[in-house]
Amino acid sequence: MFKLSLILSFYFTYIPPSSANIGYILPISRRSVNYPDENRDFDLGFARTELKGVIRKYTAIQQRGLLLNTDNDISDFVHDNYPDVDIIVDKAFSAGNFDEVIQTAEAIAPTFDTLPLVDQIEEGLDLVYYGEVQIGTPTQTFSLDIDTGSADLWVPCDCARCQSRQYNPGKSSTYRQKDDAFDVVYGTGWVHGRTVIDRVSIAGVTIDNQTFGTISHESADFRAYSNDGILGLAFSTIAQCHEHTIMENAILQKQVNVPIFSVHLERGRENGSELCIGCFHPSKAIGSPSWNRVIDRTYWSISLNAFVVSGYWNVFATKMSAVIDTGTTLIYLPGDAANQLYSKIPGAKRATDYGAGFYSYPCKDAFGVEFVFDDRPLSIHPDDFNQGMTSSDPSQCIGGIIAITDSSWPSDLAIIGDEFLKSWYSTYDYSSGGRVGFSPSINNHFLRS
Ligand SMILES: *[C@@H]1O[C@H](CO)[C@@H](O)[C@H](O)[C@H]1NC(C)=O
Ligand SMILES: *[C@@H]1O[C@H](CO)[C@@H](O)[C@H](O)[C@H]1NC(C)=O
Repeated sequence: MFKLSLILSFYFTYIPPSSANIGYILPISRRSVNYPDENRDFDLGFARTELKGVIRKYTAIQQRGLLLNTDNDISDFVHDNYPDVDIIVDKAFSAGNFDEVIQTAEAIAPTFDTLPLVDQIEEGLDLVYYGEVQIGTPTQTFSLDIDTGSADLWVPCDCARCQSRQYNPGKSSTYRQKDDAFDVVYGTGWVHGRTVIDRVSIAGVTIDNQTFGTISHESADFRAYSNDGILGLAFSTIAQCHEHTIMENAILQKQVNVPIFSVHLERGRENGSELCIGCFHPSKAIGSPSWNRVIDRTYWSISLNAFVVSGYWNVFATKMSAVIDTGTTLIYLPGDAANQLYSKIPGAKRATDYGAGFYSYPCKDAFGVEFVFDDRPLSIHPDDFNQGMTSSDPSQCIGGIIAITDSSWPSDLAIIGDEFLKSWYSTYDYSSGGRVGFSPSINNHFLRS
């Protein structure tokens, strides 16, 4: 699909800088098991839990009212703090000149790092991508799930039943009390606690006076995961703590050179994923991003207009708002939209054995599913789409696009999770009014080791 010459010219013309000056890179890890295994069975337990969780995560926010923090015009402060940033970022990207993105960045602030992430892999699903973040003075380290689908940071504190590291405010000289109640409902559960203020350091970027949640109670669901807490990267308009997110504060405090962050998610590999803070990492992506305007600055939501199956374009009956969510594993469409999509896949049918929402299709059939956001079709890798064989018929596999048939679910809300993002390096730009960029991920073009 991708031209070799382009890959080669990319490598000949671009010499990646040493990691010390690429940007603020947070390595992300993930957890999962048995990957890749083409012959695995469909794991209903996981899919059902996530389906229920996604409904909870998104309807809780709708019910509470979307705008929790009204001091939220990130666009204004991006402009105040980074004059001409739209033009500079846009020019560098459209010229395919990532050096320029980085150099522009370095001219504004000299340091530049990334956060490696770890991937929690389970039953062939890449479940949770998390990285190590430092809090307090001296620092205390926590592994946080990188979640573009929520807007709060939290860590456990005095949590008797949490099986994870705990934040100790008494040992931090930069801790300040805030003590508002803090409750968040997530896809996978809920947490309850109080807010505090402290210094947070992420991949070498230090943010002062960050408000975040300290959790004394969490639902049992969280104990299955190896991360200690969550790092929310959506817009603070939906932050339960009613304060700026870590990324917004990094921009406000001029700790990043360019008001963007980018996410690389590995497929089936524990290490190698990363969060690039204030940067775009050319060695994880191939080519410039194609940009999609953010519809409203709550989630990173962009419009999803059409889909392509085996080369044929179909316009969704309802134009959708698609939330780009690194904290969700699969892809979720409203019932009618999912039905419309599967009706174009030959041999696909409702997998009624598994309950509402699931569809099966002939495992061996070669077809491609692509989403058309603003205008360009972007494919979902078949390995990521395939959720495993059905127990009643091993020639039928469950598709990774799940229908939400719940009546409280908005008919135009789609959630695009890691299943899609493993094929597309994603860049989240606070300038230009907010936009999400997708570049082909290196996952699709190089052999796995
Ligand atoms: C953090 O808060 C303290 C106390 O209010 C203030 O002195 C300091 O300037 C703040 N730092 C930043 C970076 O806003
Ligand atoms: C992933 O990275 C961690 C931390 O650096 C290391 O302990 C682990 O062995 C690595 N795993 C693999 C499969 O390389």
